[in-house]
Amino acid sequence: MKKLIALLLSITFFLMGCNNAPQKETQITPAGLYNEPHRPQVHFSPKEKWMNDPNGLVFYAGQYHLFFQYYPDSTVWGPMHWGHATSTDMISWKEQPIALYPDSLGYIFSGSAVVDSANTSGLGKDAVVPLVAIFTHHNAAGEKSGSKTYQNQSLAYSLDSGKTWQKYAGNPVLKNPGITDFRDPKVSWYPAEKKWIMTLATKDCISFYSSPNLKNWVKESEFGETLGAHGGVWECPDLFPMEYEGKTIWVLLVSINPGGPGGGSATQYFTGNFDGKTFTPFQTATRWIDYGSDNYAGVTWSNTGKRKIFLGWMSNWLYANVVPTEKWRSAMTVPRELKLEKVAGNYVLASYPVKEMDKLQEDKRIINDIDGKNYDLSKEVGQITGPVQLHFVAPQLNSFNIVFANSKGEQLIAGYDQAKNEYYIDRSKAGDAKFDARFAARHTGPRLSTSKDLLLTIVLDNASIEMFADNGLTTMTDIFFPSEIFSTVKINSPSDFPIQQLEFSKLKRS
Ligand code: FRU
Repeated sequence: MKKLIALLLSITFFLMGCNNAPQKETQITPAGLYNEPHRPQVHFSPKEKWMNDPNGLVFYAGQYHLFFQYYPDSTVWGPMHWGHATSTDMISWKEQPIALYPDSLGYIFSGSAVVDSANTSGLGKDAVVPLVAIFTHHNAAGEKSGSKTYQNQSLAYSLDSGKTWQKYAGNPVLKNPGITDFRDPKVSWYPAEKKWIMTLATKDCISFYSSPNLKNWVKESEFGETLGAHGGVWECPDLFPMEYEGKTIWVLLVSINPGGPGGGSATQYFTGNFDGKTFTPFQTATRWIDYGSDNYAGVTWSNTGKRKIFLGWMSNWLYANVVPTEKWRSAMTVPRELKLEKVAGNYVLASYPVKEMDKLQEDKRIINDIDGKNYDLSKEVGQITGPVQLHFVAPQLNSFNIVFANSKGEQLIAGYDQAKNEYYIDRSKAGDAKFDARFAARHTGPRLSTSKDLLLTIVLDNASIEMFADNGLTTMTDIFFPSEIFSTVKINSPSDFPIQQLEFSKLKRS
């Protein structure tokens, strides 16, 4: 029997090999599906078609759920669905059937999901805890007709741990009062008053609503009309408490598009107090969770206890629809653990790849006492053939750059400019950039840390770099499209730049 199967298989493969399909197509066999040029290997990307924002991030019954803005019919943005993927570690994802389809109330725009453990919504049945998704219904016809009320908030629920979803019959649960941009509800439980809080983007500010049951919502307050960055519309907010030395500090994330520090889309944040009604910020200066060009609409998982884990969409509305990938469009960042730190008396948000990422590391090399003035790391570790992680400690920070290059003369540079006290990523010569004139650029992020030494971590995938400097106090994420993978790494500095210890690992495909 085994022999017969083997014979049939080899005949099938022989016949497949004989058809005249273009080489490119025959490479994309199921086993090779994630091998297309520029395909991320350690980041979530959909098997095919268009993806944008992460939605409904929720941990339940041992599984992390990742829903995402998805258009299954094209690689450009269109009528939005919620795609779905699950993972037990946020690293290896399994794509699931589409969770939510557009309906008569509109497309399914961004939103969140919660575990309604006490069944406050009454949507649970027979003691089954409902997972409830709260999202924006976007009525495209309404928008076209000039109505102002085409975005409304609705619910869907799942009684089988997130596998299948039903829309709530009483949708929408929060009707638009006449604000054209009224969307992206992020809902969380406020235990002190046993109520749900909805943080909603309402044009150029955030509105907070509360509800005892996820169905009836009352407006509590507004925040931010005259604070923070306002180069574009406010979108995809998130509000959550974090602990700092026994104190509870509230963090408010607000994505804005355009108006980011590198142009186009970016995510700013505020720290402050929240009393169940009003958010009161500690500082008014604008701060960004990431100073690169490609981390947008990021929010945190709900139901992960004290751990706050963030995931962003690794693209930018400036060019998201035209980046040079054929089968799919865009990926998520690596999941990042958020921490609060205090710098010069201010609370600052640091992000760092979750520790679950460590399991992807293989062939780890630890190299001590490097002269970072002129160091060819490839001589030590060989050519890069896939994603890698690099981490080093330098006792005395000086200007430096790390150059990733390929045999086509393309290069990606990450580094630090001491005179300006800023980090940077320069992708201006990093490959294909003809799809948008603004893509070939150098992005900068201020150094916030005041310590003498430097701890730097870089995650490099086939089409993205994520740099976490000073334990993630300054984080930068950029995508790029080289015509061949970057295979060499060199470190340079105009002055002495001793590196005490450098760790280099290959990252297994996740
Ligand atoms: C952010 C965003 C959201 C909206 C969604 C539509 O990238 O514009 O405000 O809900 O994308 O896909």
